[in-house]
Amino acid sequence: MQNNELSIIVLAAGRGTRMKSELPKVMHRVAGREMLNLVLDEALKLAPQEISVVVSDDFLGYEDEILRGRDVALNFVVQKERLGTCHAAMVGFEALQKNPGKVLVLYGDTPLICAETLREMVAGVDGKALCVLGFEAEDPGQYGRLVVDENDSLQKIVEFKDANDDELLIDLCNSGVMAFDGARMADLLAQIGNDNAAREFYLTDAVAVARGAGLDCGFVVADEDEVLGVNSRFELAKAEEILQNRLREHFMSEGVTLRDPFSVYFSYDTKIASDVIIGQNVVFGAEVEVESGVEIKPFSHIEGAILRGNCAVGPFARLRPGCVVGEDAKIGNFVEVKNSELGRGAKAGHLAYIGDATVGGGANIGAGVITCNYDGVNKYRTEIGEEAFIGSNSALVAPVVVGDGALVGAGSVVVKDVEAGDLAVCRALQKNIKDGVKKLRKK
Ligand code: UD1
Ligand code: MG
Repeated sequence: MQNNELSIIVLAAGRGTRMKSELPKVMHRVAGREMLNLVLDEALKLAPQEISVVVSDDFLGYEDEILRGRDVALNFVVQKERLGTCHAAMVGFEALQKNPGKVLVLYGDTPLICAETLREMVAGVDGKALCVLGFEAEDPGQYGRLVVDENDSLQKIVEFKDANDDELLIDLCNSGVMAFDGARMADLLAQIGNDNAAREFYLTDAVAVARGAGLDCGFVVADEDEVLGVNSRFELAKAEEILQNRLREHFMSEGVTLRDPFSVYFSYDTKIASDVIIGQNVVFGAEVEVESGVEIKPFSHIEGAILRGNCAVGPFARLRPGCVVGEDAKIGNFVEVKNSELGRGAKAGHLAYIGDATVGGGANIGAGVITCNYDGVNKYRTEIGEEAFIGSNSALVAPVVVGDGALVGAGSVVVKDVEAGDLAVCRALQKNIKDGVKKLRKK
């Protein structure tokens, strides 16, 4: 149900110079998802009536990647001059089309924020002018500091550049997330000036302005990991580590065995049922679904695949997008499968490439089998019937059909369809020469 009280503004117009990238900072990915999308995924769980995303003009052209798969409208609005977070928030506020009861301001480069914390913030602003999300920093570094009086009441936020020696000792820091009383927000922001070390309009000054008007300001304390801001590739790697650890903990708590959790990497959207066993050094790309009873052995790389119940994959398997591995099927070492479906109990144990193929239930694909799916211009399909047997080192030149129960002799190059139950052998016949070795040596 939509929350008609709440609107959200996401600030994402920063230049991100420290990333040293052509890509806008908020489009860099953590666990396979763009940071801005991660923030929006959580924001949308609160069902706000509207979201404004404040971007810079070099972001334009990326909107579709943010909107893909969403059925909500987002107001993308360009902040033409980068005059500070208060200015950016005003640009976002002006883009809102409906009157908000409350406004939540988020940063696009704080990708680990959780909906639960955002809900606390929305509750925290009740009866107050605003509410700030703080955290106890292990190293307060360059974060803004929350100045709180003896009654635990928030007085102001001082930016690092403007803080005095006493203020620098404070370790309660500003995460950047703020919630506002929607009726007061425009008025508070309008009173903020840029008389500070950076000559910027600081959103954080809203606290001092509100206090000056006798209004109350609250704060909520989050876990430091959740509010990590990404400004550099190093911080991007830290965010990745934190999110991967969250995913590892999540899957283990859901009944998945990870033999060496820290060597397994998930995608933000990986789905794994209980009683799945995952070996060391397994990497999941986007869109993988694993059903119960599956074992994924070490050093496998899996993306865009559905692994049906009790199948086994790896070690050293590579599954590329468009794969369905049937129940009880087996994919062994150095087998690459792409855009193919393997039926129940089918086996490809060693050194094979199965691309654009359908493999029937119970079929056996020998070592070194290749489906030749590409002629340099077009791709074609290979169909292998149920219980068919493809001998080792055979090449199946697509388009080609091998019927149910058919058998292809080892080392064949199959260019014609093989009827069900037929035996196809397509290779030079073997000739044995009596004492041939002796004769050869004499020559
Ligand atoms: C800000 C906070 C600081 C806090 C820290 C947490 C202010 C003044 N300071 O500092 O208290 O501890 O975040 O990480 O708010 N942005 C725009 N337009 C602008 C300026 C910034 O969209 O004109 C966006 C950036 O893309 C970014 C966010 O606002 O997502 C924060 O800006 P940044 O310059 O990184 O602020 P900090 O100096 O880190
Ligand atoms: Mg920052």
